[in-house]
Amino acid sequence: MVSKADFIGRDFISSDDFSRSEIDFILSSAKEIEADPEKFKQSVLNKIMVPLFFESSTRTTSSFQAAMLQIGGRVLDFDVDRSSVNKGETLTDTAKIICGYSPEVIVLRHNRDGAARLFADIATCPLINAGDGKNHHPTQTMLDLYSIQKIKGKIDGVKIAIVGDLKYGRTVHSLFLALAKYSGCEVYFISPESLKMPKYLLEKANKSGIKFNEFGLDKLQDVLGKVDIAYMTRIQRERFPEGPEGEQQYHKISSQYCLTLEMLNNSCNKSLKIMHPLPKISEIDIEIDESEHAYYFEQAKNGLFVRKAILNLVLGGKE
Ligand code: NCD
Repeated sequence: MVSKADFIGRDFISSDDFSRSEIDFILSSAKEIEADPEKFKQSVLNKIMVPLFFESSTRTTSSFQAAMLQIGGRVLDFDVDRSSVNKGETLTDTAKIICGYSPEVIVLRHNRDGAARLFADIATCPLINAGDGKNHHPTQTMLDLYSIQKIKGKIDGVKIAIVGDLKYGRTVHSLFLALAKYSGCEVYFISPESLKMPKYLLEKANKSGIKFNEFGLDKLQDVLGKVDIAYMTRIQRERFPEGPEGEQQYHKISSQYCLTLEMLNNSCNKSLKIMHPLPKISEIDIEIDESEHAYYFEQAKNGLFVRKAILNLVLGGKE
């Protein structure tokens, strides 16, 4: 039986570090917090969270900060752009220095794969990975699963298209590994040939027996009629090589890729919901925002409840 005690002091590096029952426990804890936020207002009274964001972020930083403040904690202001990181300080040194000030939890985003593991090995408090390079983004996955559960009533058996930059997209790497823990899920991967899901992840998930298939972007329309959810992602310019060649590759791919309202109407799938970790650039026609298919803004809101639950559990909150 999973209990709150299993999460105290624990790092959040990859969604694969958690069993299905542990994920379910986190999701039901988020549900409890969403239903009665008042009850959790002082759960982690005065505990300190340090957000260390070495890469840009809108939702992840602000939802973590709002979550911590709304459950009674405090947030240390650490602005990477104004720090000694600009003078060339190493991640290891930054970890040692920050931990010297005794925070209770650190939330890290970094452009290097494996940065979260490295930092966690040095840190003297729990480390929550808010995205490391193209590797993992476990808290995004928890909020994605929470959203799927709200849309479908359950995660088992969900039929989902995962679309876009599957090579570099850490949100889809973490999500796929987590879906493989549930039963009967069917995944339709849709991407340009050069941005397919990494082989090692397919092999890893294959062992679980999850059903998946890979398609080119030209099959997006066909697949829309077969799934409950289309999980869109942006083509990530910053992960392509720098310079004119990278720029050209990026434009070639991103110009071929846009989900339109017409495609959704043609699919005759009225209950289809569109998810997206955001930010979205040009891969979703703006008209879709106002349609009943759009779930991405709701999905971002769900991040608050899920991150409150994660912080509360890791910090051994009173409630
Ligand atoms: C994602 C990320 O940073 O990996 N955004 C997020 O956390 N919501 C996706 C992206 O940047 O495209």
